[in-house]
Amino acid sequence: MRVLVVGGGGREHALCWAIAASPLCDALYCAPGNAGIADVATCAAVGAEDIDGLVALAHDQAIDFVVVGPEAPLVAGLVDRLEAAGIRALGPNAAAARLEGSKAFMKDLCARHGIPTAAYATFDDPGLAKAWVEERGRAFVVKADGLAAGKGVVVAASVEETRAAIDELRQGLGGAAARVVLEERLIGQEASFHCLVDSVHVLPLATAQDHKAAGDGDTGPNTGGMGAYSPAPVMDAAMTRDVLDRIVRPTVAAMAAEGAPFRGVLFAGLMITAEGPKLLEYNTRFGDPECQVLLTRLKSDLLPALLATRDGELGHLDLRWHDAAAVCVVMATRGYPGAYPKGEPIGGLDAAGAVEGVTVFHAGTAWKDGAIVANGGRVLGITALAPTIADTRERAYQAVDRVQWPGGFCRRDIGWRAVGRG
Ligand code: AMP
Ligand code: GLY
Repeated sequence: MRVLVVGGGGREHALCWAIAASPLCDALYCAPGNAGIADVATCAAVGAEDIDGLVALAHDQAIDFVVVGPEAPLVAGLVDRLEAAGIRALGPNAAAARLEGSKAFMKDLCARHGIPTAAYATFDDPGLAKAWVEERGRAFVVKADGLAAGKGVVVAASVEETRAAIDELRQGLGGAAARVVLEERLIGQEASFHCLVDSVHVLPLATAQDHKAAGDGDTGPNTGGMGAYSPAPVMDAAMTRDVLDRIVRPTVAAMAAEGAPFRGVLFAGLMITAEGPKLLEYNTRFGDPECQVLLTRLKSDLLPALLATRDGELGHLDLRWHDAAAVCVVMATRGYPGAYPKGEPIGGLDAAGAVEGVTVFHAGTAWKDGAIVANGGRVLGITALAPTIADTRERAYQAVDRVQWPGGFCRRDIGWRAVGRG
């Protein structure tokens, strides 16, 4: 089978690494890929949001199956286009990707079907939104309605901050924030939960948790994710059952009942409150860097599982996982998530990958003049597998310390919550 992976981050390197190892895979392409992905796949210079270019590439290379990594092409209808062209594709169509692409759609669906989430109100007019906040006299969480690359949420601490966030989101994000959702702030521990969904069956994956803040101790600005660990102790067996019964299965049934059946990876962001788990958001694809730790722990062949998801055959599938723990430490360019330079050479990658149990996934890297250089905000995902989470962290940081890259930084405390509990 000829497979194309769409995307060029650490998540897509992990997907390519796992798919390349499948006996079912005869040829693997990635668009656009990165310097690390080029070791396991043929990279094509087509952007992940170039829908016409991707359909043409899949056609030209006689691709049998496309795996879409990021959310933007899903929301833009890449899967609809590929399937219409007779090419099987993993991921929701545009109608089902609204679960991630529109916060208002997701919240309204939850309201219609009694799925636990924060109370909310949606506004098209910023003046009305601000008046509504004034009337209530307390702070709200402010969210842009559309995709905002992780920058569309402000957890405001006061009425003043809430008002300011309504204006900022509209100005900063242009069209994405034409509509805002105001939500009650939920208190608790965050957890995330990934499932494969074939429009009817739900197959939960191993548990994983990311670290969103840029700095140690969960301080500093939010990022796409500075690291992840698996398993995540907060999602124990009872919590997993509760989340499946109250949140994920009702959502899958609701989408089917409303004519937008969901197929693909459904990733729920949750807040574990005193009243039980509540939904913060859905993502309609693997998390990045959660994908790196999940696929490192997966013992089964990934490719048949993704095909079964596309084909509606998850009812027969069982996945096996390593008992060992995985940790991914993201190395990013200094300045991220703000502005950062590009082009600094990175050394020591082979030495880092030689640490027992360690895989170096590339995110923002490129080849330049015979060297691997930093080419993005999040650049590497140093991922380790070992029997305990403490050993795993040690291995991951041992590998991090072998990377020669003065302009890079990472958090030094990835997995601390799991170690504390373990
Ligand atoms: P989202 O993109 O909706 O997951 O929001 C990004 C982050 O904002 C989440 O990971 C939470 O840390 C925070 N957040 C979002 N919604 C809420 C809420 N209703 N209450 C408290 N924190 C929230
Ligand atoms: N790590 C969070 C995300 O991929 O959305």
